[in-house]
Amino acid sequence: MDQPQNRVFSGVQPTGNLHLGNYLGAIRNFVGLQHTHECIYCVVDMHAITVWQDPKELAANTREVAAAYIAAGIDPSTNIIFNQSKVSAHAELAWILNCVVRIGWLNRMTQFKDKAGKDREKASVGLYTYPVLMAADILAYRATHVPVGEDQKQHLELARDTAQKFNNDFGSPDFFPLPEPLIMGAATRVMSLRDGTKKMSKSDPSDLSRITMRDSADDIAKKIRKAQTDPEPLPESVEGLEGRPGADNLVGIYAALSDKTKADVLAEFAGAQFSVFKPALADLAVEKLSPITNEMKRLMEDPAYIDGILEKGAVRARAIADPILARVREIAGFI
Ligand code: AMP
Ligand code: TRP
Repeated sequence: MDQPQNRVFSGVQPTGNLHLGNYLGAIRNFVGLQHTHECIYCVVDMHAITVWQDPKELAANTREVAAAYIAAGIDPSTNIIFNQSKVSAHAELAWILNCVVRIGWLNRMTQFKDKAGKDREKASVGLYTYPVLMAADILAYRATHVPVGEDQKQHLELARDTAQKFNNDFGSPDFFPLPEPLIMGAATRVMSLRDGTKKMSKSDPSDLSRITMRDSADDIAKKIRKAQTDPEPLPESVEGLEGRPGADNLVGIYAALSDKTKADVLAEFAGAQFSVFKPALADLAVEKLSPITNEMKRLMEDPAYIDGILEKGAVRARAIADPILARVREIAGFI
């Protein structure tokens, strides 16, 4: 069985409130990779249901993530775009890998601790084994590279350990490649606009904490204007951002949106007050995001078109994953 050298897999959960962190940390990087890699981009609806999702909203949110992929510039005719639940290999491989992964590994996952909160007994079993399903997503395609935001690093390490343990346990060296994380750009961890020490997230109760991929130009400008900062002007060097999380976050966002480094941005804005920098950032954000937002809106008006893309993507995804799963079944001794 051939092992491709350049196969990318990544996913985004359809849990609503797709935001600037998702765009800068993940989706934007997906777009660049399509020219050099064979890319498979998934809407991970089975991951989404690890916390309760209203079924109608789940369907709409699934189409929204697919629309964001396409609107951001991923070409669905050359790359595979599909939703996870359409390809049974993910769930099937996840079960086998559940028997490879150790409980101790899952107990170290910080995202589970954050998401389960204080009352861990009430979290779903799915939330606990979520990283195993993520490993299955990647390994079902024997993917080599996985573009993600910084918060997924630990899950990717678990996917690598899982691949290695499977290969060792079953005496099939090199069957699963060890997937490499690709954590790219100046904003691998975009922070909340209300609190620069917290990650920007879909579930933050404050709408002002995040710029979403549905926001109008006015919403974007308002949220940036209200973003938490401090009274000091911008420093001359990146070291000067230390201990200033709000400022650091906005400079990082500006850098990522303009394809520059934070040092470049500070060279331009050193000594500027936020009353100057925030409007410049708002203009830049509107310029970069509005075309995507508008195209998403247009695509969302034609759900049948999106469903067609997801269906075609699933057919192509199955054609890759099914033979790999057939081999896994043989390796495991299933007759
Ligand atoms: P999720 O929304 O959890 O499905 O995340 C989808 C992708 O967006 C993953 O690659 C995450 O690492 C990335 N991501 C989520 N939140 C952020 C953030 N605040 N900053 C950068 N990347 C993020
Ligand atoms: N866990 C990822 C997140 O929440 C989403 C995801 C699921 C994923 N399966 C994946 C990302 C496989 C990369 C590869 O951000």
